[in-house]
Amino acid sequence: MTLANLYPAHVSELQQRAQNVLARENLDALVIHSGKELKVFLDDMSYPFKVNPHFKHWLPLVEATNSWLIINGSDKPKLVYYQPVDFWHKVIALPDSYWNAFFDITVITKATDIEQVLPYDKKGYAYLGEHIEVAQALGFDSINPEPVLSYLHYHRAYKTAYEQECMRKSNAIAVKGHIAAKQAFLAGETEFAIQQAYLKATEHTDNQTPYGNIVALNENSAILHYTALERTAPAAHKSFLIDAGANFHGYASDITRTYAFEQNKFADLIKRMDQLMLNAVAGLKPGASYVDLHIATYLDIGRVLQEFGFLTVDADTAYEAGIISTFFPHGLGHHLGLQTHDVGGFMADERGTHVNTPEQHPFLRTSRVVETNQVFTIEPGLYFIDSLLADLKASAHADMVNWQSVDEMRPYGGIRIEDNIIVHQSHNENMTRDAKLD
Ligand code: GLY
Ligand code: MN
Ligand code: MN
Repeated sequence: MTLANLYPAHVSELQQRAQNVLARENLDALVIHSGKELKVFLDDMSYPFKVNPHFKHWLPLVEATNSWLIINGSDKPKLVYYQPVDFWHKVIALPDSYWNAFFDITVITKATDIEQVLPYDKKGYAYLGEHIEVAQALGFDSINPEPVLSYLHYHRAYKTAYEQECMRKSNAIAVKGHIAAKQAFLAGETEFAIQQAYLKATEHTDNQTPYGNIVALNENSAILHYTALERTAPAAHKSFLIDAGANFHGYASDITRTYAFEQNKFADLIKRMDQLMLNAVAGLKPGASYVDLHIATYLDIGRVLQEFGFLTVDADTAYEAGIISTFFPHGLGHHLGLQTHDVGGFMADERGTHVNTPEQHPFLRTSRVVETNQVFTIEPGLYFIDSLLADLKASAHADMVNWQSVDEMRPYGGIRIEDNIIVHQSHNENMTRDAKLD
């Protein structure tokens, strides 16, 4: 089905959610502010604009500043679109698209004209957005009310068929970039040149990617949030880790691959981690606990460490001793959608009741029960991180590790493999593999 076919049901679902929360909170309307450009200190330039996710949930206007949605859950939603008369900047005309007919559209040419569109008495109107000072100046009392946000964030985990299609497209775009990046790595390019190859293939600028790409050669792959881009090539290309996504209509993909330059032990380790990763994906099903899946993966990584000779003890002993987190220090994954780390991951219900992750797993980004129509990343990793290894070496468990085997792997950095999955009632849909990324 095309986006145009899927869109009406998406809007109806959002209307229904709005109606429910407005009735529950005794409100008349949600007033969603797209946001405004943030100026650099003492400068006349702005930071890259990032639209309010509540705004882009309704329609794919990711560059619309000073624009508004007024939603009462039963009337046609009102879009107040800002289109200034400006000879300095490109003025983005309202696109003619499948979503136009679903909005009652008003164009304003001055940002302050929103004042004339909103009622004078804003009792019952809740402002949803980033700019508290704008809301206060306009006279809103109700600004980002917590129960409203909790309700909307809880339900945002359930992706409509339209959203799922956007995320398939976002995966397909990112996969083009990953294929180009792999080729650039095998051609011996620098991190900087690989990044350029990725951006070119995805037709994204740096600011359009959903997060700063991680493009890491050799030992840089062990730096979890490595965003430097070396302009010079290393003496030898050994390994390559790329964590890079794409944006389609405001929906993110978030994909990681790791490659070896030669067929060696590290290449075998990647193959084994790929197997482990797909096994973790198979564990996603409605009713499953993501926390349990994370813990099971922990134990699995212990088995890989044992198989490859990195341990002097068995996987269970290593697990009991808590040393797996030296090699796998982050969570198995997270909800994905309008935001890369999508909201709602810790909520037990639509009131936002928080579910803590287990104390030993503080970096896990979701504790929620897995359900149909939720979208997740699954991204196990196995790294050789100097600082964490130094801590382990200085600990009482140092003799559980075969240090010679570990030291051999340090120049390769580490491995992460990350796919994006829709959980359906009867099966999982791996959008990343379906888009033909091995
Ligand atoms: N790229 C961010 C993440 O994988 O969570
Ligand atoms: Mn990622
Ligand atoms: Mn991720």
